[in-house]
Amino acid sequence: MYSFDFEQKRLMITNLNGTLYATDRICTHAEADLSTGFLTDEGVRCPLHLSVFNLENGEPQNPPAETPLKTYNVKIEQNGIYVEV
Ligand code: FES
Repeated sequence: MYSFDFEQKRLMITNLNGTLYATDRICTHAEADLSTGFLTDEGVRCPLHLSVFNLENGEPQNPPAETPLKTYNVKIEQNGIYVEV
């Protein structure tokens, strides 16, 4: 997981099994930084209350989080990785 800020957004890019996903990195439940969480086969697990977010669509897979993470398109080109924000 790689975290970065762009304008007012706090984002992260995650490599899950060779596929890159770009999402907000602040948990929708209580604002934990997901980039300090854990990767599972289902997505990223919040370090605070352990909700798992699907990285493709941002949907929480278990409580307490109920609101999806915002996701962004990622494009890989020869000279870098681009996120459509
Ligand atoms: S802060 Fe992430 S599940 Fe509570």
